[in-house]
Amino acid sequence: MTIYTDLVAHAEMMKTKHMRDLFAADPNRFQKFHVTFGEFLLDYSKNHITDETMTLLQRLAHESGLAQARQDMFEGKRINTTENRPVLHIALRNRDNHPIYVDGHDVMPEINMVLDKMHVFSDDVRQGKWIGATGKTITHVVNIGIGGSDLGPAMAMNALAFYKTKDIQFHFVSNVDGTDIVETLKKCPADRTLFIISSKTFTTQETLTNAQTARAWLVAQLGEEAVSRHFVAVSTNIEAVRAFGINPENMFVFWDFVGGRYSMWSAIGLSLMIGIGYDNFIDMLTGAYEMDQHFLTAPFDKNMPVLMGLIGLWYTTYLGAESYAVLPYDQYLNRLPAYLQQLDMESNGKSVQKSGMPISYHTGPILFGEPGTNGQHSFYQLIHQGTHLIPIDFIAPIHSLNETGDHHPILLANVVAQAEALMRGKTAEEVRDEGTPESLIPFKIFQGNHPSNMLLFDKMTPRVFGSLIALYEHKIFVQGVIWKVNSFDQFGVELGKQLAKTVLKEIKDYSQNLNHDSSTNALIQKIREKRHP
Ligand code: F6P
Repeated sequence: MTIYTDLVAHAEMMKTKHMRDLFAADPNRFQKFHVTFGEFLLDYSKNHITDETMTLLQRLAHESGLAQARQDMFEGKRINTTENRPVLHIALRNRDNHPIYVDGHDVMPEINMVLDKMHVFSDDVRQGKWIGATGKTITHVVNIGIGGSDLGPAMAMNALAFYKTKDIQFHFVSNVDGTDIVETLKKCPADRTLFIISSKTFTTQETLTNAQTARAWLVAQLGEEAVSRHFVAVSTNIEAVRAFGINPENMFVFWDFVGGRYSMWSAIGLSLMIGIGYDNFIDMLTGAYEMDQHFLTAPFDKNMPVLMGLIGLWYTTYLGAESYAVLPYDQYLNRLPAYLQQLDMESNGKSVQKSGMPISYHTGPILFGEPGTNGQHSFYQLIHQGTHLIPIDFIAPIHSLNETGDHHPILLANVVAQAEALMRGKTAEEVRDEGTPESLIPFKIFQGNHPSNMLLFDKMTPRVFGSLIALYEHKIFVQGVIWKVNSFDQFGVELGKQLAKTVLKEIKDYSQNLNHDSSTNALIQKIREKRHP
């Protein structure tokens, strides 16, 4: 018997159990299945697990070489094998500053240098020392980027909005749909606006198109010489930045060992640092560092990212779940599900092992979510009474940064009650006892047995936030290792980009012959007819 067949057999047995009965049989269930770290409490008792499940899953982690893989990442080994790169977002928050070597070269001095440069620049902007071409201070910052060069800082800016300066407005433009940039520019006075062009490669079509539009808008109002006071770049590609017309002195670098979706800790976080200030940004890095250390050193049965990773893959690979919901009961985390969609689905949405062998099991789940309680009035119906198995992460602060009347107790009551309702459900007898007419009883039954994790923390601070995001990064890493995929490439985004180049030419140039399938040909033809009648 391999660990895989053991888990398959165990999964068949677990499908016959109801969590209601597991709780009834063991008053210590919460005690056994929760873990704390810093300010966090992770209650994972409302899952389809027993002691045996957890023993088997930890055996899976050991036999999959998780400890070695983790070590390899932290030591700068080239674990992104298809791109032959180390994976060192952890170096960006290495707050004890120990050397981290890539090919014998310590990366920490460069990382610290960029952090210092960001510090000076963000202070200058915040304190009105960095002035625009006409001598005015900056009141609007526009980050232009997409994917990891947008979602990280945008999500973090919302999460830490409580700590943000009130003197500057922040905008994030990502979509190549002209509406995004046009509507944003309407809100910005050119002489008081700073554009941060964020792109790891500086070749991304959406970002460069938006950046060119912003540049033309600025030049039309303030002239060419104003560009150097109103545009800075964050990138790994100095030549492309120079070619765009941004002075490399106004460039903040990062490195190819930082993946796009893992880059909010790097200079990609420049807009965030301007927003919340250097000290808060460092607190966020500290929180992430603390989670890194926990991940690196805690035994698997006390290790939050390991436990969350194992439980997640238990559902995806062994119990047939296809999706997974992240439901933050914290308005500040309203962009977290969108951020995690990229982090998780771009990392583990793979069907080939690192070895090149095709995969015969399910890997990364379809992730979705909305903040509570909004989601309760929308898709929770399907979670409670639909036919799908959807594991959930509930996330909630025990204190609000905006304690107002009964708002927060109501919010907390809802998150706790949802987890309870999903777990226990409501039987036919219970429905009948409420006096429900017989004909309605089938519709009012809740099967229950819907699993969830509950992640509580005291209140949202930069440090807690840093730990939270690092927790998810490592959880996804754990799953990637066990699924044997490379979590750090994203070739799946290439084909659409490539075909779009051909289609763009055909939409713009009538004379091009169309050689696609009949559907694609007809769609292009329709667009041509309507756009150039
Ligand atoms: O969509 C693919 C992707 O490469 C993401 O991984 C990345 O975060 C995003 O595009 C933006 O890339 P860049 O920062 O190079 O503009």
